[in-house]
Amino acid sequence: MRQAIKELPASRIREVANAGIGRDDVLAFWFGESDEVTPEAVRDAAMQSLARGETFYSHNLGLIELRDTLSAYTSALHRPVAVDRIAVTSSGVSALMLATQMLAGQGDEVVAVVPVWPNLTAQPAIMGANVKRVALVPREGAWTLDLETLLDAVTPATRMLLVNAPNNPTGWTLTRHEQQAVLDHCRRTGTWIVADEVYERLWYGDGATAPSFLDIAEPDDRLIVVHSFSKSFLMTGWRLGWMVLPNGHLDAIGKLIEFNTSCAPVFVQRAGLAGLRTAGSTVPALAERMQACRDALVNGLQRLADVQVALPRGGMYAFFRVPGLSDDSLNFAKHLVAEHGLGLAPGVAFGDEAQGWLRWCFASRDPARLTEGLARLERALRL
Ligand SMILES: Cc1ncc(COP(=O)(O)O)c(C=O)c1O
Repeated sequence: MRQAIKELPASRIREVANAGIGRDDVLAFWFGESDEVTPEAVRDAAMQSLARGETFYSHNLGLIELRDTLSAYTSALHRPVAVDRIAVTSSGVSALMLATQMLAGQGDEVVAVVPVWPNLTAQPAIMGANVKRVALVPREGAWTLDLETLLDAVTPATRMLLVNAPNNPTGWTLTRHEQQAVLDHCRRTGTWIVADEVYERLWYGDGATAPSFLDIAEPDDRLIVVHSFSKSFLMTGWRLGWMVLPNGHLDAIGKLIEFNTSCAPVFVQRAGLAGLRTAGSTVPALAERMQACRDALVNGLQRLADVQVALPRGGMYAFFRVPGLSDDSLNFAKHLVAEHGLGLAPGVAFGDEAQGWLRWCFASRDPARLTEGLARLERALRL
């Protein structure tokens, strides 16, 4: 086995979740998904597709109807994006891997803004690239970017810059000014930006989406934007995503898709299409429900003595810490499961920078679950 694979750390979120397996008294908020089922219209579209017998391979890049609709959807939210810049992928994580395979090989330098969902940094490590981590800085519970530190880290030797904003787990989001500075800098160094914007619609600031690189980039910029149907369309289990590429890169990505998954299943693509067709009403309504969950959870956390937490502007997570209580977030998370029936993700799962922090996914249909979770945390902190 290759050394790079041996050295990959196992998921620390799974490690905590495994501690709760077989216990139905645990309230689990450790994974990044809502407990809401996919909307009926989307499930129906998949069933109708199967009933029609759409059980065959499709084009590597996805159904043209879906790509056309994605082009219209993206263009309405951002600057116009032509269909020949869009590829459908079998999930957001697959899109990220395809981008990484295209750009980063053995010994290449990749810069990543961290803490971050661990898959983003594991993928270049799998390819044998060297990942340089640039840490966000926590200030009174909120994580902020030191722009100069990031720009200094990205040099002409940097093949690829990985930025996930709104960020999982911290909720940090690039400002337009920071985005422009990063884009200008990467144009000078020749560095590719891989922007993971899967949480762009779970956005609680001004406008319909978080600031996106697609608002400011030109079609020839070295920019790949990765998207997913998982979060804003409540489709985690379906495994469907897409990517926006610069002009002239579709053939290359088509080849890579062929050698990875060949294509996304047609009935899943039909479901995605149905999700996009109803997005005008469903996505803003979902963001509104999420915002209510966020407010309830973060207000509840802020009422607990000593908890440091900030209101995230995007995403589906509250990221918090209790200074002095435990610097070992993995063991503390396991303790919360074992003794208090509360399932959270340990901050260290997202990098050593977040040691001592905990991530709580607030995407829940039932506010009573969050209230009960808060009561369990309060009991744990009192002991
Ligand atoms: C930051 C980020 N990017 C990408 C994904 C991938 O989503 P999926 O592979 O379900 O499309 C996730 C899922 O948790 C995520 O948190």
